[in-house]
Amino acid sequence: MRYPIGASATAPELTADPHPLLARLRAVEPVSWLPALGGWLVTRHDLARQVMRDARTYTVDDPRFSTAQLIGPSMLSLDGPAHTRHREPFARTFRPAETRARFTAFVETEVDRLVTGLRPAGRAELRAELAGPLAVAVVAEALGLGDTDATTIRSWYEALVAAVSAITAGQEAATPEAYALLRARVEEAIKDGRPSSLLAEVAGRPEGLTAAEVVADTAVLMFGGIDTTEGMITNAAAHLVGHPDQLALVQAEPGLLAGAIEESVRLEPAASVIDRYAVRDVALGGAAIRAGDLVRVSIAAANRDPEVFPDPDRYDVRRGDADRHLSFARGPHFCFGAHLARLETTTALRALLRLPGLCLEYTAGPRGLVFRKPDEVRVRWSAA
Ligand code: HEM
Repeated sequence: MRYPIGASATAPELTADPHPLLARLRAVEPVSWLPALGGWLVTRHDLARQVMRDARTYTVDDPRFSTAQLIGPSMLSLDGPAHTRHREPFARTFRPAETRARFTAFVETEVDRLVTGLRPAGRAELRAELAGPLAVAVVAEALGLGDTDATTIRSWYEALVAAVSAITAGQEAATPEAYALLRARVEEAIKDGRPSSLLAEVAGRPEGLTAAEVVADTAVLMFGGIDTTEGMITNAAAHLVGHPDQLALVQAEPGLLAGAIEESVRLEPAASVIDRYAVRDVALGGAAIRAGDLVRVSIAAANRDPEVFPDPDRYDVRRGDADRHLSFARGPHFCFGAHLARLETTTALRALLRLPGLCLEYTAGPRGLVFRKPDEVRVRWSAA
């Protein structure tokens, strides 16, 4: 057997706590064949970067890509000039300075509103009561769909996720009703043409995206921005509050908060695996990959590569170079929502740190094959 460790991997193990298995793979089979995942798994930091940066060899543009089967071509499933045409009109709004100018006040107001509501109870479950509602509200605001209520947007998102998961599992999935509702709402926003509307702005740009293309990219932003950011905030809170010694360091020196967040996103990237398809036969890390093979990159494994991060399993807010993680990918599909996600996480954690006597009551730790986060993170503080 060429890849015994890969052959032994099971989906439940990869879903619960994959890190011990990923460490063994990275050390012995850094590019391994995993029958449980139906493809190769790349676990070393240098090889993971190589795959993500080389879209000519490892593409997202493949008919098997489940999101594209549901919503049609979008920035997530295209490469080369077609990808740039879809991505650029959206990405320009999310550059660091634009992100700060456009979203800081909204994110602060939203966090303040949520935390003020929670404060008197003296306890909260942070995923459902803070991270989730914040992530939905910010995506709605970013897309200019703020007058559609959060529950509706969440239900569209969940219907799309269910349909994509069904396709991934090899089942037939009809385009959900939710996609028609999203399409109608996006077309309305384009037609309205309000000066502040991102969707109207994108549709009016020289790249000339059609309404159907703007709808597909809007769905990608929803996919990209809701579950992941909910996970990033939840994981960051669980790591910080769950390590009282590290929490004390950040409380004494608030400048360490940025490092604490990067360290958390390194240890548990909210999107832990990304998929590519080999365009040609290629050798990688000792493996002979064949044209058409599915090549999955384990960001979670690359982020704990001891060649890059000494003592990689340790949560250390003073690490200093945690941002060498690959959690927002690299190369042409690099996550342009990263600055916004960081803004949301920083603002949420700052507000939590102001709660007196903040401590962890319970968390079961993160779970998930691709999107990883704890089911719940219960904290308490002194409400007096
Ligand atoms: C407001 C929050 C966010 C928005 C709006 C957003 C949006 C996006 C978009 C539109 C893409 C596709 C870019 C392309 O294909 O060219 C993307 C890619 C990606 N995002 Fe985000 N994202 C957000 C938060 C996050 C978070 C919190 C994480 C993980 C911690 C994350 C991880 C990724 C990764 C790994 C990719 C690359 C996917 C791939 O290459 O296949 N994103 N994001």
